[in-house]
Amino acid sequence: MAGYLAGDAVVTLRWQEAPAPGRLEMIDQTRLPAVFEYLSFDSAAGVAEGIRTMIVRGAPAIGVAAAYGVALEALRMQDQPRAAFDAALERGFELLAGSRPTAVNLFWALQRMRACRDAHGGTSVEAIARALLHEAQLIHAEDIRINCQMGEHGAVLLPDGARVLTHCNAGALATAGHGTALGVIRSAVAAGKRISVFADETRPFLQGARLTAWEMVQEKIPVTLITDNMAGHLMACGEIDAVVVGTDRVAANGDVANKIGTYMVAVLAQRHRIPFYVACPLSTIDLSVASGREIPIEERAPSEVTGFREAQWSAPGVQVRNPAFDVTPAELVTALITEKGVVDAPDEIKLRSLFGG
Ligand code: MRU
Repeated sequence: MAGYLAGDAVVTLRWQEAPAPGRLEMIDQTRLPAVFEYLSFDSAAGVAEGIRTMIVRGAPAIGVAAAYGVALEALRMQDQPRAAFDAALERGFELLAGSRPTAVNLFWALQRMRACRDAHGGTSVEAIARALLHEAQLIHAEDIRINCQMGEHGAVLLPDGARVLTHCNAGALATAGHGTALGVIRSAVAAGKRISVFADETRPFLQGARLTAWEMVQEKIPVTLITDNMAGHLMACGEIDAVVVGTDRVAANGDVANKIGTYMVAVLAQRHRIPFYVACPLSTIDLSVASGREIPIEERAPSEVTGFREAQWSAPGVQVRNPAFDVTPAELVTALITEKGVVDAPDEIKLRSLFGG
């Protein structure tokens, strides 16, 4: 198992220089934990499809992948005339922007790549392509650094011996490395605290059972898997000391969109007076949406609810809803953990001040 780790971390995405002009490799997260395999990508269309089909998932990882998707498209087209290069790049931006709607990191990363393209617009296509690859690599490296900073700020909140519930996967697999919510846990463990984790299985896509449990097992952090409907019982029995989750988009008023089921966990945490923390890089805060009501919630295929992969167990023809995310109102959030520090009881004034506003 240690073979899956580079140093002490899972490497979700990696850039390979050879063969020229380079390619992006990403762990196929749809097959974990049964199969550990990197898939190779060489175009924006390929990366967009990888995001849509959740080969890569998790808000920050989607952002990093999309940035590389733009760079790949530019590198792929750098021998073409300028008009063809510009048209292909624009199409690449569109495909990537249409891949998944909720995680704002995707749009944040594309915005950065557009700004980079525009800043180098007066140079050659080769120079634009080089600049875009450099920008994607910056976004990649920054994400790891930011996760480690969040980890340090968040670790302070967890007492020695804490039993921490998490929902979905907000770990190394969901980011460029270290993770957001699991990054807080990793940093607390690295600081010498004895932390144990309860992982909600996270129906219907099972990110908790398949990914969070796998990550924790790789690193020998004690983890206990529960089904989503067990969290209330364990809280009532006094077995959970804190909740730490990630997020896909935080609105200006502090409302938190995250994996479906997070809202339920937050309500339960409040009922049992358990702190509910959200690990949230600034790239996940979207000041352009006033409240969670404006956050687009992805609806996924009914087959995810009626069964899992080939095993379909529901009555054929049944009606299904499959919203992939929900919104936890800011009033249920004890604190946001950002790279700039911990924001208690987040509200619009506190969030704007993070951006100097
Ligand atoms: O549908 P997914 O697996 O992309 O959803 C992921 C989540 O909801 C994570 O909690 C969120 O992206 C934060 S990841 C650091």
